Amino acid sequence: DSIKVFAPGTVANVACGFDVIGLALDAPGDEMILRRSSEPGIRITAIHGADLPLETSRNVAGVAVQALLQKYDQPDIGIEIEIFKKIHPGSGIGSSAASSAGAVVGVNHLLGEPFTKKQLVRFAMEGERLACGSAHADNVAPAILGGFTLVRSYRPLDITTLHTPEHLWVTVIHPQIEVKTSDAREILKQKVLMTDAIRQWGNVGALVAGLYQDDYELISRSLEDVIVEPIRSILIPAFHELKLKCKEAGALGGGISGSGPSVFMLSKGEENARKVAATMDSVYAPLGVDYKIYVSQI
Ligand code: HSE
Repeated sequence: DSIKVFAPGTVANVACGFDVIGLALDAPGDEMILRRSSEPGIRITAIHGADLPLETSRNVAGVAVQALLQKYDQPDIGIEIEIFKKIHPGSGIGSSAASSAGAVVGVNHLLGEPFTKKQLVRFAMEGERLACGSAHADNVAPAILGGFTLVRSYRPLDITTLHTPEHLWVTVIHPQIEVKTSDAREILKQKVLMTDAIRQWGNVGALVAGLYQDDYELISRSLEDVIVEPIRSILIPAFHELKLKCKEAGALGGGISGSGPSVFMLSKGEENARKVAATMDSVYAPLGVDYKIYVSQI
């Protein structure tokens, strides 16, 4: 009556797809142990590796499971959750999403899989609402469904998974400074210029086409964000130098991971992804900021 869950980190937005595109990483990821308990209700018994609230209604995993149990509608269910955080809160690699997603996947398993994965996304979104005030799905969807995901619409919720080319890799650098998603959303403009919108939806469409056609050059040309990155990039040390040097080292392209401060770069093949990791290291080593670098196949 217990289960151990691996909850992967995720890269939201993937440059042009603000709030709609996301991808799942191999590392970092949280681990969670979920248990059935004879005492009704949800209890977060411990959180290792981060200072986060244990109180169910203030914890993203607690709130996500609450949403699930409300729908399940059997008031005597008791759940205990123990969380081992490996993804730092405020990293831009979907820390809150991993907790929410891992919790609902685990509880669904303990209950005998009454809900589909897409239903689980909806419950996990409640965790995101608590974490940053907006129930975006571009981290929780890839955390639950894997690979690349696309949110076509929020109302009604319409989410689909996307094909991933066989040799697509991602390198992520996490500078150890905290950027709160709520702050990084507040600084954005609420209106966009038509010329920027045209460029952005051209890129989103072409990124999806590139994924399906295994066309790495098209993917490369599409990794451009003219709406959000110009505003948020000021929060990230050496962002433009990092991007430029990674592209010179062979990256297809990249941008801010989620709301930052992490930065991701896509590459064709593991060798390029590792070269990009070394380049990230050489750009950040002199800065005096602590950082971690992760390489994953998507
Ligand atoms: N799409 C969200 C944002 C993801 O960029 O604000 C946050 O992780």
